[in-house]
Amino acid sequence: MAVLPIVLYPHAALTTPARPVETFDEELSQFIESMAETMYAANGVGLAANQVAELRRVAVIDCAGDGEPSQLYELVNPVIVERKGQLVWQEGCLSFPDLYNDIKRAAEVTVEYQTRTGEKRSVSATGLLSVALQHEIDHLDGVVFTERLAIFEKRVALRKYRKICERRGLTPSE
Ligand code: CO
Repeated sequence: MAVLPIVLYPHAALTTPARPVETFDEELSQFIESMAETMYAANGVGLAANQVAELRRVAVIDCAGDGEPSQLYELVNPVIVERKGQLVWQEGCLSFPDLYNDIKRAAEVTVEYQTRTGEKRSVSATGLLSVALQHEIDHLDGVVFTERLAIFEKRVALRKYRKICERRGLTPSE
């Protein structure tokens, strides 16, 4: 297990679709554990493999609040099979430090996925968990959250992000 470096937008891994996982072995288990450790170290509620520059369909999510017991989802090959309603949620992303945007998504989703050993599971979610599932599955498809904004809002958000990077001395790689 290790804390992995998180890549920042516009790293190419963030805009490239990840490949399905076909081998459920010890290496996969260790990778998933490192992903969870990386997410917790960064105080995130979700992390997709693309964000650690690995193009495989793996994501971790834990939306438990402070003081609540952890509720870790290890998602391999997750697919949204049902969407209902609509909501707007202020989202952030570990690959866009300090940038927050109101994003419109489905209010409720059902996601089918596999565990680290390849067992099939499904989860139905509302609220933050629903948003996190949609945000992380977008990452696996090579879609970052600013892509969910209208063209003008996207331009404003990316300008703001460039300023944040300059101010913090971050030099995001392509
Ligand atoms: Co993200």
